[in-house]
Amino acid sequence: MEDQLDVDARVTELMSSLTLREKFMLLTSHGRRRMYSTKSIKRLDIPSFKVTDGPLGAAYHSSGFKKNTRFPATVSIASTWNRELSREIGVAMGKEVRALGRHILLGPGINICRTPLNGRTFEYYSEDPFLTKELAIPFVQGVQSQRIGACLKHYAANNQETDRRSNSSEVDERTLHEIYLRAFRDIVKEADPWSIMTCYNMVNGVYGAENKYLLREILMDRWGFKGFAMTDWLATRSIKTTEGCINAGLSLEMPWPMRYKLNSLEAAHSERKFTDETLDDLVQRYVRVMFLTGAFDDPSTLPNGERNTPEHQALSRRAGEEGMVLLKNDGSLLPLDIDSIDRIALLGPNLQKKFGRILSGGSSAVVPPYEITPLQGMKERLRNKIKIVSDASEADVAIVFAGLNHGKGQDSESGDRRTLDLPEKQIQLIRDTTSANPNTIIVLIAGSPIAMENWIDDVPAVLMAWYSGMEGGRAIANVLFGDVNPSGRLPLTFPRKLSDSPAHSTGDPRTFPGVDKRVYYDEGIFIGYRWFDEKEIEPLFPFGFGLSYTEFEQRNLRLDKQRVIDSNDFVVASVDVENTGNRVGSQVVQIYFEDIECSVPRPPKELVGFEKIGVEPGEVKTVDVRMKAQDFAFYDEKEHGWKIEGGEFRILSGRSSRDIHHEVELQFTGSS
Ligand code: BGC
Repeated sequence: MEDQLDVDARVTELMSSLTLREKFMLLTSHGRRRMYSTKSIKRLDIPSFKVTDGPLGAAYHSSGFKKNTRFPATVSIASTWNRELSREIGVAMGKEVRALGRHILLGPGINICRTPLNGRTFEYYSEDPFLTKELAIPFVQGVQSQRIGACLKHYAANNQETDRRSNSSEVDERTLHEIYLRAFRDIVKEADPWSIMTCYNMVNGVYGAENKYLLREILMDRWGFKGFAMTDWLATRSIKTTEGCINAGLSLEMPWPMRYKLNSLEAAHSERKFTDETLDDLVQRYVRVMFLTGAFDDPSTLPNGERNTPEHQALSRRAGEEGMVLLKNDGSLLPLDIDSIDRIALLGPNLQKKFGRILSGGSSAVVPPYEITPLQGMKERLRNKIKIVSDASEADVAIVFAGLNHGKGQDSESGDRRTLDLPEKQIQLIRDTTSANPNTIIVLIAGSPIAMENWIDDVPAVLMAWYSGMEGGRAIANVLFGDVNPSGRLPLTFPRKLSDSPAHSTGDPRTFPGVDKRVYYDEGIFIGYRWFDEKEIEPLFPFGFGLSYTEFEQRNLRLDKQRVIDSNDFVVASVDVENTGNRVGSQVVQIYFEDIECSVPRPPKELVGFEKIGVEPGEVKTVDVRMKAQDFAFYDEKEHGWKIEGGEFRILSGRSSRDIHHEVELQFTGSS
């Protein structure tokens, strides 16, 4: 509180010392060649303000070409369903950014996965806004605990890379709020992020950086956002006016002035195209964050930063391990037993690949001081006890390290994937290996869903390893040999084929990649599992799915109350979880709801709570999942707000969106 008062007083004082020209300079103060920092203003000792790309750590190109801890991709963090781990990663990234002398981490990326082809799926959490916000809130809090600002991106409806700078996402009001804005809203309200980045694309015909509805009306006025808005890099190229951005609520144009050149700002101001009050608001939002991050302060008074510590590297490995999702394990081929194998075949294009390369995957590329490849990780774990061979037919077990290359067209910014399938050569390798050796395991290293229809039946085991960070090779080996029992759950539906998924169901380019620069979100709110449930399409692997090396039973779902009165209320669902296998393991209890009767169409189920819990063999633990009544609401277009209609709701508990064990009813009395 004292700090807060101090910041407010310092903002007021600085604002009163600024001339009009200096206010403009603040909005515009970038050197032409500096992509990630602003120029200082000498007269008032206003320092240069520095940002660095996230969200996989502090990116190389934006941190003075420094090597930093490379954490697993966001989609892998999302697969952990572990809020505390997400917070720890936020704290660690905050420390790395602080040690670099920067003030803002450009992350988290919280766009919703509308199409599995999106080149940036790996940088985002999920197809589900609830899971996204639950994991991003502690991340933002973790980053900001180090007095480093988080930056939510990309606001909003930035769901594909194809034509990202010129497309308009055509989305109805309910879908926009219920699916694409909801995580932004909740993170703003619960974690107070200090900045937000606008999207490249237009939303309903208006670019993100000049979108007054999204910025001023919704973000600032309705949700009470106190931070400042910056553009995505060079996003203002296609925008026509300076005042459009000012009046929309944009503080910083990045990385250099196009609409916010000093003379354009002065001209628009003298023609009264925006008010002084609006200008002051934009400047004070920005300088407030400069104070919050300690940009003006003696570094010795700020939290200590640290980079590349053994703790951060161990955290990266732990997160990588916990994010891995065991998709198939017939005959309990996994975990491997080091004592019963003599020869192992290690194959595939990702066996020796390093992913932390300069700009590999685009702006999120963190180059770590070292990176453990799967081959290195396996060799360390095998400790010369098992012979590595290259002919699968001579081995007891064969492992194919398949997946994508994290480069152009394969999980990378600026382009979408062209197919859901693996490259043909890899499919052939999988076929050849499985016919040479029935004990074949596929490890997929990729950042988005992969189609497996044409090979999965021949393969007994599949592990989705994602991009699991600089310690990835060790993390994979630890999971394959059972030092770590896999506990990841899919944050995305894996479709059998592309046409099963919502943006691709008709094959009409209007829904993807767009026609005449418009992408029509015709599927509305039915995104991800909401679509597969509604259309009764069997996915390859459903949202929330993931196996373990042990077995669990869930029993006895009950609620602490049968009735909920208004949207500020809470309900606690309790479930007993028993580990019926013989290894310690973690289970994710997932709670969904169904609104049985509603005046608008609602999805058959929506995630409303989850808890991850570790259970010893033979042990039974009770898990309490706290749900907020407001998370049962839908967005009512008629009233332009959120609403819960009175009546019956069904509460469902299970192990995935398609593995529901129990249900009970809950009454909403009255409406709100
Ligand atoms: C990306 C942003 C990134 C920015 C700065 C843009 O191309 O869309 O996510 O933060 O570049 O590097």
